[in-house]
Amino acid sequence: MTMRTNTYRSLLAAFYPSARLGLFALDPERAHHLSLKALQWLQDAPLAEFHSGTFAPGAPVDVMGLRFPNRLGLAAGLDKGAHCVDGLGAMGFGHVEVGTLTPRPQPGNPKPRLFRLKPAQAIINRMGFNNPGIQDAVFRLEKRAYPGILGVNLGKNFDTPNADAVSDYLSGMRAAYQVADYFAINLSSPNTKNLRDLQMVDHCRPLLGALLEQRDRLSQEHEHGVPIAIKIAPDLEDDHLRQLADLFVDMGMDAVIATNTTISRKGVNGMHHAGETGGLSGPPVRERATEVISLLHRHLDDRLPIIGVGGILSGADALEKREAGASLVQIYTGFVYRGATLVQEILEAIQ
Ligand SMILES: Cc1cc2nc3c(=O)[nH]c(=O)nc-3n(C[C@H](O)[C@H](O)[C@H](O)COP(=O)(O)O)c2cc1C
Repeated sequence: MTMRTNTYRSLLAAFYPSARLGLFALDPERAHHLSLKALQWLQDAPLAEFHSGTFAPGAPVDVMGLRFPNRLGLAAGLDKGAHCVDGLGAMGFGHVEVGTLTPRPQPGNPKPRLFRLKPAQAIINRMGFNNPGIQDAVFRLEKRAYPGILGVNLGKNFDTPNADAVSDYLSGMRAAYQVADYFAINLSSPNTKNLRDLQMVDHCRPLLGALLEQRDRLSQEHEHGVPIAIKIAPDLEDDHLRQLADLFVDMGMDAVIATNTTISRKGVNGMHHAGETGGLSGPPVRERATEVISLLHRHLDDRLPIIGVGGILSGADALEKREAGASLVQIYTGFVYRGATLVQEILEAIQ
């Protein structure tokens, strides 16, 4: 770890509590936009030297045939358009997952679509895959300096019917094959109509089959294979989870990411904004996400690695996911509430 990176991380960690006061006074989406802009400015212009050539702290670990610099990653959705991979990566993440990206750019759902539930340190979002389109992101990713692992999370456009969804995922994979270290197939966002129906085993099987077949072709063409993980919802029944786990193993998937946001409102009922439509994240999803990881771990018996995500707001929460069977963990909502301090805390807790 270089001295420069240490300083960068320490400054961001120290600065965030006061910055958050200002940011939390703003509309959540505006605060998100401004934070990413500031980070982009830091990474692209005057301080590029400050964090260039850095690497993540911690002990490397091999998952999906890739060497991750440490066990912590940034979950999908925060940097959907891959504008800040260098700046975010320099905070110490061993992997950064960009997206969800769709083949064509799309604006997402009408605003407001992002809500803070402060007493629960939670978020409800119904963003709807607002993103600049995969090709635009790929241009930026080709120029990244971040030396950690890059995940590219793929989705379908909102107006692509489920019957044609496979062509969107295939086209995303083709477009990003050269820049991605792994792909995450998102079948679990509650904010694209009927998307989660693709998690039905009968829908999932042909879709994954087509993706794996194309991956094998691209792997020969480019002389390297890119692993494919699949991201699932916490709201599936336990039996359904077991069936999916068997399917993923049978088909030769490389990992499962558990979990996405929940449509449940357990733990936030009666709170301001709790009635908003969308996916709930943060502490209210923690317990169910951990349960899903435990169930998958028991059922899979190490046949498939699990990437654990959902409600990690402390080092202890990350450890809980590790103990439940997650090889890697990811954060989103905790990072919004706690900033770079949480990155350091988790890395110390789970190494
Ligand atoms: C505002 C917001 C946007 C998100 N967008 C995406 C997305 O585009 N793709 C995706 O796979 N997950 C998305 N997620 C889900 C997160 O990656 C993560 O799975 C979920 O929030 C649970 O983790 P957390 O409790 O640490 O936030 C989003 C979450 C939030 C809060």
